Amino acid sequence: MSDLSLKEMQESGRLKIEWARSHMPVLKQIRADFEKEKPLAGHKIAMALHVEAKTAVLVETLAAGGAVVAITGCNPLSTQDDVAAALDTVENISCYAKYDCTNEEYYEAIDKVLDIDPDITIDDGADLIFKIHKERRDLIPKIIGGCEETTTGIHRLIGMEKDGALEMAVLAVNDAKTKFLFDNRYGTGQSAWDGIMRTTNLLVAGKTVVVGGYGWCGRGVAMRADGLGAEVVVTEIDPVRALEARMDGYRVMPMEQAAEIGDLFVTTTGNRDILTERHFKRMKDGAILANAGHFNVEIDLDSLKKMAASEKTVRRNIKEYVVDGKKINVLADGRLVNLAAGDGHPAEVMDMSFANQALGVKYIAENKLSYGVHKVPEEIDNYVAMLKLQSMDIVIDTLTEKQRNYMDDWEEGT
Ligand code: NAI
Repeated sequence: MSDLSLKEMQESGRLKIEWARSHMPVLKQIRADFEKEKPLAGHKIAMALHVEAKTAVLVETLAAGGAVVAITGCNPLSTQDDVAAALDTVENISCYAKYDCTNEEYYEAIDKVLDIDPDITIDDGADLIFKIHKERRDLIPKIIGGCEETTTGIHRLIGMEKDGALEMAVLAVNDAKTKFLFDNRYGTGQSAWDGIMRTTNLLVAGKTVVVGGYGWCGRGVAMRADGLGAEVVVTEIDPVRALEARMDGYRVMPMEQAAEIGDLFVTTTGNRDILTERHFKRMKDGAILANAGHFNVEIDLDSLKKMAASEKTVRRNIKEYVVDGKKINVLADGRLVNLAAGDGHPAEVMDMSFANQALGVKYIAENKLSYGVHKVPEEIDNYVAMLKLQSMDIVIDTLTEKQRNYMDDWEEGT
């Protein structure tokens, strides 16, 4: 990509954005409404999201609503430089994201985004909000609210709220039904396997796939591994979710046991040290490890590096570590595999997630929210679902008055 001229990069990015946009009908409708009503006029939005084509469609939608937008990445390996270059050419949009940037560059870009003096933030992992509260506190009085895209970000924010440290309103976009039921489950389910398969070019059928965590992402990853012909093993710490995994047809066991039989491991817990020294020691020669959780802490790479006699890149995005004579392959340095080694979720899924973001930002602009983590209003969730159904030419039934009365009236028992 770096061999291309800036103009070629912009053109390549523009084509990717157009392709994504043509598969995001809900956001298209919201953009048409925003263009007419300009609900975000006068607002400045700072964003830290995975900078790829679907995100660009969201950014353009917000700018069409009248906002000035500055964006950077939320992960050093998920930025697509051509998309970043194309975005940077659009009026009222600045993009500071760069693929494979250093840690220092990553945080410098976050500062640049905050330099626009935003009144609204959009995060995927809460990096902006964290930075604002730790180092850029001068920005707090002007901020009327923020949106958070992912489970891990919301865990961080709820922790801040519990400690009395959260000094702004945040909409938990991840927790909208039209987000997590589709994005985390079907989105991660498909795109994690897309990332793993295009990176390894290996067969999934006949392999034993170990899925760490049976939350919304884990369910998607397990379901699609099953569909591809793998034997699926799930590890959990929550008894209810472990039981669900078993009744969905998968084997459930502790990771120490699963480590011995897995060919391919995918972590989706949002927690740290899911695969660590005691697991690496037990693994089979040739085991492949990938992470689909937000941060690169699920696979303990520091321990793996210390244990390994050698380490080398054997294929783009695959590092081989030799431990006790056995090869252990890690994809995309343990960063979320669907974005660091793929194009992220399918556009049709991000259509709904980002519709929640766009309408969430409008909601923040139009309502004075108190400090703390807020739910996305049910009306927004239902509106997004309705627009999506319409775009798929699906019509559903409506309750008759008699049915509504029957459901509402506790005396109507028969
Ligand atoms: P979730 O909370 O629904 O599921 C996480 C599951 O992991 C829970 O069932 C929990 O009991 C389990 N878990 C926690 N610690 C564990 C341990 N030590 N061993 C085994 N299981 C453990 O969360 P969700 O929505 O599935 O998200 C998971 C992660 O994926 C988060 O970091 C989230 O931010 C990220 N995410 C990634 C996406 C992607 O594009 N790759 C998309 C959406 C979310």
